[in-house]
Amino acid sequence: MKITAIKGMSDILPPESSVWRGVEEKVRQIFDSFGFEEIRTPIVEPTELFVRSVGETSAIVEKEMYTFEDKKGVSLTLRPEGTAPVVRAYIENGLQAKYPVAKLCYFGPMFRYEQPQKGRSRQFFQIGAELLGAESPMADAEMLILLKNIFSGLGIEDVRFEINSLGCAVCRPKYLEAIHGFMKGKEKKFCDDCQKRAKKNPLRILDCKKEPCRELTEAVSTISDFWCEACRKHYREVRGLLLAGHVPFKENTRIVRGLDYYCRTAFEVLCDRLGAQNAVAAGGRYDGLVKDLGGPDIPGVGFAIGMERLTLLAPLIHDSRPTIHEPMFFALLGSEAEQAALSVIQELREKSLRVESAYGGSLKSQLRRADKLKAKWVVILGENEVKKGVAIVKNMHDGKQNEILMGRLVGELSK
Ligand code: HAM
Repeated sequence: MKITAIKGMSDILPPESSVWRGVEEKVRQIFDSFGFEEIRTPIVEPTELFVRSVGETSAIVEKEMYTFEDKKGVSLTLRPEGTAPVVRAYIENGLQAKYPVAKLCYFGPMFRYEQPQKGRSRQFFQIGAELLGAESPMADAEMLILLKNIFSGLGIEDVRFEINSLGCAVCRPKYLEAIHGFMKGKEKKFCDDCQKRAKKNPLRILDCKKEPCRELTEAVSTISDFWCEACRKHYREVRGLLLAGHVPFKENTRIVRGLDYYCRTAFEVLCDRLGAQNAVAAGGRYDGLVKDLGGPDIPGVGFAIGMERLTLLAPLIHDSRPTIHEPMFFALLGSEAEQAALSVIQELREKSLRVESAYGGSLKSQLRRADKLKAKWVVILGENEVKKGVAIVKNMHDGKQNEILMGRLVGELSK
């Protein structure tokens, strides 16, 4: 029986993989220009890490995690997101001592047991960035400017930035109380999920996608009425910096985010071309997270971009390696020719040239493959050529061919 990939997990095949590589290359250049350095964390983490950060009552932890026990009965989880692992690594490796401000970026697969649809899968790839150690609104603004540079660097100009402030430990509890108060007596009118949310995580009610709940919550007061003075000031400064940094944004007081660690600034980057799953990136500030995970009291702010959605928006970006589209092709007839060619092929590849070789078959079929690969130069080596110590070099564009001494082949071809 045929074995197929797991539902919601897909293969990235060429030529799409070339778009992925092109996008990654461009994003890496932009990360470099902002001083972000790469961190690679394990794909599997202790389950507890996500329970304590993303939140016990979040949809991710409640129903979307790939959790299993290892052979010793320890509960492990395939990471559903990248922030908690980065913070875990930051604390564990004492990075705060090395970097007063740590700027870390990551690229990798994440796993959530969601209902697959366009733009939503169970294994998906994120590009993320986390800035730890800066409380200033300048850090929030820089993360959004970084995002804007990434989108414009990829030629994507039709994204919208929506921002909100989720308040802090001082002011948010008052807002949650207000939501409770608002729901009192109306509980039954809300969907089952929202009735549960009311008890455990009332902010999430604002995020419900069901129309009756959305209509009901139209009347809830907005979080902006509850911000404390410090949160108000922080948010005002972020907006001022975004204007100065030419990041167009819209304020949206309904952004609540699906992960529990956020405080103050929260944002989403949306694009209508994506359809229902229209968030291509999202993030925000998480000042209490390092401390909650057992580290010092250090603030943080970050974002993650969904790579599948990003590549849908930038299909014209391609891998920029110069040699990729025009390989040289070695047509080899017989094992002596193969042996004679290998050291030449090796030398050419060491010069970063792309060289394709034949794997048996007639000259005709080998030339057909060279044609398919769009090779400009084909080197033909058969028994006769090996005896004479030469190779035939054929220009596939004009059909002309020359005999070249084997000893001069690398020099000639690398011109
Ligand atoms: P998130 O909003 O859960 O945030 O995910 C960020 C982005 O990942 C989304 O905007 C979307 O583009 C992509 N994404 C999420 N789930 C899926 C899925 N099932 N299939 C395809 N793409 C998906 C976080 O993960 C936070 N860790 C972001 C962050 C970093 N906050 C602070 N630092």
